[in-house]
Amino acid sequence: MQKLKINKAVFPVAGLGTRFLPATKAQPKEMLPVVDKPLIQYAVEEAYSAGIRHMIFVTGRNKRAIEDHFDTSYELENELEVANKQALLSVVRSVTPDDMYFSYVRQPRSLGLGHAVLCAEHLVGNEAFAVLLADDLMVGPAGGSSVLAQMVDQFDELQQSILAVQEVPAEHTRRYGIVAADAVSPGLMKVKAMVEKPAPEVAPSRMGVAGRYILTPAVFNHIRSQASGVGGEIQLTDGISSLLGDEAVYALQYKGKRYDCGSKEGFLEASVELALLHSEVGAHFRNYLENLQIGWSGRERRAANL
Ligand code: G1P
Repeated sequence: MQKLKINKAVFPVAGLGTRFLPATKAQPKEMLPVVDKPLIQYAVEEAYSAGIRHMIFVTGRNKRAIEDHFDTSYELENELEVANKQALLSVVRSVTPDDMYFSYVRQPRSLGLGHAVLCAEHLVGNEAFAVLLADDLMVGPAGGSSVLAQMVDQFDELQQSILAVQEVPAEHTRRYGIVAADAVSPGLMKVKAMVEKPAPEVAPSRMGVAGRYILTPAVFNHIRSQASGVGGEIQLTDGISSLLGDEAVYALQYKGKRYDCGSKEGFLEASVELALLHSEVGAHFRNYLENLQIGWSGRERRAANL
């Protein structure tokens, strides 16, 4: 049988970003930069690194900046060319490699992540696809593959749906889709059950789903048949849980780190850690942090005139 390949990635980006107000009053939360790149670009680069070329955005009102970011910026490129600023020109052009292409579809109402994925069904068609939540900034291990590339590698073998999972503290189960799963091989599990944001007392495990999924197209019918779940929304988790009745679903304990950039704390952690790794500002920033007298009290600061 011919092996299936993952060619398309779906990025649900219609969310309002209320946790980042007022920053997200007039701009999409996915455009908030970590150091010098918007969150959505990290996710698109991750998909590209996994061999995916067709990027599908499920977008909404006030999200035009995302489309513009991945479009040609004619005036900017022209100005940089005239001024012979080649380095900046290549930074601008590198956002969209020539072999990357895009589709946009609107999610007219905020009916949940499952509903957002369903909005992309006609663009995905009858093939397995990836879903990336840009709020989760994923960094692969130093020198290793990106998280989605690790999942695509597994898909090459398994040809079934795969969820990225990580162990989360018991008190955080309410933030995640949680899976109950049996170990298959080191880092790989077969999912038995999945619940959205359970309380710690009823959570089937501490394996939380991070915002990376590879799904077979059978999931669409399962999402469609879901009633509203947690928070009155059509949950992707409920669709996957229903899919489990028909198909095997796997969970991969990925190698790498997840930053929850949907929260202020996670966003700040990503900013600090990625700044330290940044080729241009990393060394300076490290020096700055090392000299930052973080433990000082207010009085000590005032005495030192800070
Ligand atoms: C969504 C999913 C949840 C998943 C999480 C990962 O929740 O519904 O199952 O664990 O993303 O970030 P959200 O964070 O959008 O509330």
